[in-house]
Amino acid sequence: MSVSDVLERARAAARPLCTGTVTGAMGLTISVEGVTAAVGDVVEIGSGGVGPGHGLLRAEVVALHRDRLTCMPLGEVAGVHVGSRVRPTGAPLQVPVGDALLGRVLDGLGRPVDGGPPLAGRARWVDLATQTPHALTRTRVQHPLSFGVRALDTLVPAGRGQRLGIFAGSGVGKSTLLAQITRGTDADVRVIGLIGERGREVREFLEENLGAEGMRNTVVVVATSDEPPLVRLRAAFVATRIAEDFRDQGRDVLLLMDSITRTAMAQREVGLSAGEPPATRGYPPSVFAMMPKLLEKAGTGAVGSITGLYTVLVEGDDHNEPIADTARSILDGHVVLTRQMATAGHFPAIDVLESISRVASAVTAPHRMADAREARRLLGALRDARELIEIGAYTEGSDPLVDRARVLEPQLTGFLRQSVEDTTAPDEAWDALHRIVTGS
Ligand SMILES: Nc1ncnc2c1ncn2[C@@H]1O[C@H](COP(=O)(O)OP(=O)(O)O)[C@@H](O)[C@H]1O
Ligand SMILES: [Mg+2]
Repeated sequence: MSVSDVLERARAAARPLCTGTVTGAMGLTISVEGVTAAVGDVVEIGSGGVGPGHGLLRAEVVALHRDRLTCMPLGEVAGVHVGSRVRPTGAPLQVPVGDALLGRVLDGLGRPVDGGPPLAGRARWVDLATQTPHALTRTRVQHPLSFGVRALDTLVPAGRGQRLGIFAGSGVGKSTLLAQITRGTDADVRVIGLIGERGREVREFLEENLGAEGMRNTVVVVATSDEPPLVRLRAAFVATRIAEDFRDQGRDVLLLMDSITRTAMAQREVGLSAGEPPATRGYPPSVFAMMPKLLEKAGTGAVGSITGLYTVLVEGDDHNEPIADTARSILDGHVVLTRQMATAGHFPAIDVLESISRVASAVTAPHRMADAREARRLLGALRDARELIEIGAYTEGSDPLVDRARVLEPQLTGFLRQSVEDTTAPDEAWDALHRIVTGS
């Protein structure tokens, strides 16, 4: 018997089995009487036999009253009835962490869903909640992290510990880009959170986009759109918790979250059904409290780093959309994908002029920054002259910069376009950019 088994038995013996009962269920909440528990604790709700493993359903305590608890289900509520037995577990949600998770696909609560061996005994189990490293103990973002995507590594360079948003509408290539980055990055470990996607999209992502190569040194946490909102919400924190553990071992982790918008929507459902008032466009205040809490967990630690890449849905160019707005204010950089480029077949559909990395100068050598600035200047000149050129109103010779940009345009476009299978090492990308902008 392992030490943890002995400890578990000792704990169980010291805690008399005390059960309560379900007294009602409405919307997303379940009322329980007859037991005490702390906010955040997990209780097991079963119909008949009560005890470890007999829980039909796990639920989290979200509110306390003098004589009852309000719980929110972490699973399907069907089958729960008034009088169902409730057993407190005496602890908040426990999630697996560690190297045993590499190459695995987990559900929103950290249980394997890939048909592989169980994690019990292989992984370490920890509380979901952690203390976010204090700002002053965090090292500064100063080392580049490459994605293997030329347009990003040169014109929107990321640093280890940076948090970037990928802003895009649906169907413009977010998931494809995330998979490409997963395969191309030089991060030690990648953790992917797929939150609120449809089941079909998830299969496609895992089997076609990511493939076996993308699963190496990668952990995937999935909560599809049909999961209860609390599970979708927790999934984002579970993925982040797994990344935090790798960081605390001194690794450089890339955390990819698709999407922060759907995570916010899950928090909205949870908040509203717990009785919060809707504030900004139907989002209750807890949504705007959750977002910085989640995003601040990424970043550098005393050792290691989590570089966070969060996709943000922007529909119909609505930049006042409160979630996109809030995300932009918290993140230290953003990548914009445009539908216009996607429909023109320009992939990855990154609008580099609209994309910015706030750590670019801290992680890039000055001579390379100069090349990047020159490339932006040329692309900017092209964009500004585009309309004139299209209607034939531009006369060659009227602006030397535009003339040079037009000559270099095919090379610049060839540089920025990159097929999904292609990974370019950053040095190679910088050399190619240097050759283009200097005409050598
Ligand atoms: N790099 C790419 N090369 C070619 N086609 C792409 C690329 N990225 C996206 N696409 C096309 O766009 C579609 C939607 O991409 P996807 O990544 O699923 O978008 P999103 O996640 O933003 O909804 C894909 O099915 C594919 O046809
Ligand atoms: Mg997608």
